[in-house]
Amino acid sequence: MATEVLTTADGREKTALSRRHAAAWFAARSEGVAPIPVGTAAPPLHPARPARPELLSPREVPKRKPGSPAGRIALLHAVAHIELNAVDLHWDIIARFGHVPMPMGFYDDWVKAADEESKHFNLVCGCLEALGSHYGALPAHAGMWRAAEDTAQDLMGRLAVVPMVLEARGLDVTPGMIGIFRKAGIDQAVAALETIYAEEVAHVAYGSKWFHFLCGRENADPKEVFHALVRKYFHGALKPPFNEEKRAEAGLPPDFYWPLADEIPPRA
Ligand SMILES: [Fe+2]
Ligand SMILES: [Fe+2]
Repeated sequence: MATEVLTTADGREKTALSRRHAAAWFAARSEGVAPIPVGTAAPPLHPARPARPELLSPREVPKRKPGSPAGRIALLHAVAHIELNAVDLHWDIIARFGHVPMPMGFYDDWVKAADEESKHFNLVCGCLEALGSHYGALPAHAGMWRAAEDTAQDLMGRLAVVPMVLEARGLDVTPGMIGIFRKAGIDQAVAALETIYAEEVAHVAYGSKWFHFLCGRENADPKEVFHALVRKYFHGALKPPFNEEKRAEAGLPPDFYWPLADEIPPRA
């Protein structure tokens, strides 16, 4: 099921399939009679993607003023692209690491996260369409799958970099984006981003939970392992300001991320 989502190119089709598979998974889990066996899979190294948007290196993606209508469309387009990548990232962790024995709750968490990312993509696409644009109308960043490729052999590395660094970054920047759309009076985008903001906390928390679980299984110090894996797989320093409150809620204490930042923490 995960591989089927990964090999579906069209965004709306991918997310529809993702939601159907998530519903089937949870239906089987709640009946408790015949849960869907986890099995193993051979996911592609790169998920299928639509012909549009054109994928450019971050330097080539044109910058637009965030205060202008075109800037707001560009911002939503970038969010839609992130959400579609996130759908694939969550199904990929399920498909790629099926050989690592994990409790069923691990799969429940990522299926739920994938279902929510699918909803987020559709919500943001709806906002783009209401503003006369659509996903695929603008170029998008090509580098977003890099983290998945770099950590394709390393489950702990994947958890450290994807939910605990990249998705945690979403918690830092989303309140500012909500402010931009509130100021512009675009209620649909405010509502979509508020849903995203509320649900992303759990995705970071799933990452932290299973990262700590794996460290505990190996009797390793989670903070030390986290620092080593982020330095190995993540290219660049983490950028303050951090949303310390939401990060705490998601199980990310300050001594995990401040030592990786390019600034000194406020009270050090
Ligand atoms: Fe999301
Ligand atoms: Fe997420």
